[in-house]
Amino acid sequence: MDEKPAYVAIARKWRPLTLEEMAGQTHVTRTLKNALASGRIHHAFLFTGARGVGKTTAARALARALQCAEGPTATPCGVCGLCVAILAGTCPDVIEIDGASNNSVDDIRDLRDGVRYLPAVARFRVYVIDEVHMLSKGAFNALLKTLEEPPPHVKFIFATTEVNKIPETILSRVQRFDFKRISASVVVNRLRHICDAEGIAISDAALRMVARAGEGSMRDAQSLLDQVISFGGQNPDDGQVADILGMVSRAVLYEMLTGLVKGEPDRCLDAIAEVHENGYEIAQFTGELLELVRNAALVALSPGARKHLDVPEEEKERLAALVDGMSAEHLSRTFQTLLEVHDQVARATRPRLVLEMAVARLVSLRPAQNLAPLVDRLVELERRMRGSGVTVPPPRTGSRGREPGDDPEGER
Ligand SMILES: Nc1ncnc2c1ncn2[C@@H]1O[C@H](COP(=O)(O)OP(=O)(O)OP(=O)(O)O)[C@@H](O)[C@H]1O
Ligand SMILES: [Mg+2]
Ligand SMILES: [Zn+2]
Repeated sequence: MDEKPAYVAIARKWRPLTLEEMAGQTHVTRTLKNALASGRIHHAFLFTGARGVGKTTAARALARALQCAEGPTATPCGVCGLCVAILAGTCPDVIEIDGASNNSVDDIRDLRDGVRYLPAVARFRVYVIDEVHMLSKGAFNALLKTLEEPPPHVKFIFATTEVNKIPETILSRVQRFDFKRISASVVVNRLRHICDAEGIAISDAALRMVARAGEGSMRDAQSLLDQVISFGGQNPDDGQVADILGMVSRAVLYEMLTGLVKGEPDRCLDAIAEVHENGYEIAQFTGELLELVRNAALVALSPGARKHLDVPEEEKERLAALVDGMSAEHLSRTFQTLLEVHDQVARATRPRLVLEMAVARLVSLRPAQNLAPLVDRLVELERRMRGSGVTVPPPRTGSRGREPGDDPEGER
């Protein structure tokens, strides 16, 4: 695609040119493709959602889809004069406005004047207003006039991360599309496609780390991949990737989880020591651990819940084996406690100590292991009190009902 050695950021170089090529967001692209195919095309679109999930990309792809000489079509040809001009940013009938810097009433009045003219070369005049939430109140009012009586040859595409700042009067006149955070597996697929084309040899596990660190933003994930490549070269290994991302390796997370569910504090303490020695943030560790415990709880809850996990199949198997026979309720209590610990860790000046102390609490959540000695001691106490003449109601009567969580083994 690009022969020159000059460095182009992956996110820019790999921006999809068509709706078809976009990863995820199928709820958006499918509707748009149907509209293009049927010719029933709304006059104003609003693309909202988190950063780096494809709003601007989709706006440009839609502009091309509307204008292509072969169109309107979901698959613009890419070679006609219009497609080429739009790609080069020289088509007079696709007007991109950055709402952040052209947000005054005058700017929008200019737009309103322009709207009156027929397209110079293309089918429509397409206005793409990015960061539309930045428009001033006056500018929105001016825009509203145009949206109320749009000339048939005009299409608007608005994009914003902050839909709550768009006046209701505008919202009611646009077709709105909510872009979602992109799941890790979809991001991994896209990154894999890019790495293959760029000759980057990197493991699936490493790409998953990158995707997770991107937290649902394709752009963030791609920028992180740029960093990985600039540090680790064409063959970054997993350890390097974890280091660059400041991420805890999966292995340590699983050690910790195993220690927690099996009630083995040593394992937990070893895992924490390793996290500490590698210089990872303890709060990041507990954050990722939370997600892992949540996944474990869902796996324990029901086989059907597995589809809500954004992790590869082999990891689901691994979790299932680990939590075999364990109740989802117990895991969800572990999650609750861990959530408190995570908050404390994030605020603590000595987070490692906080986490180490929490291990005792977390491990003692295991019902079978820790209630048994407790119940033994109670029974012993009762026996001695009886011996000393104190009246104690006998066990197993209504007055001393057994708690559902009690361990029957403990009451010998
Ligand atoms: N759904 C997607 N499929 C493939 N690539 C994507 C997708 N979303 C984003 N990207 C990649 O991330 C880059 C940034 O995407 P885009 O500019 O469309 O994000 P945005 O939603 O407009 O973000 P912002 O709110 O920050 O403006 C694109 O150049 C592209 O490489
Ligand atoms: Mg954008
Ligand atoms: Zn074309």
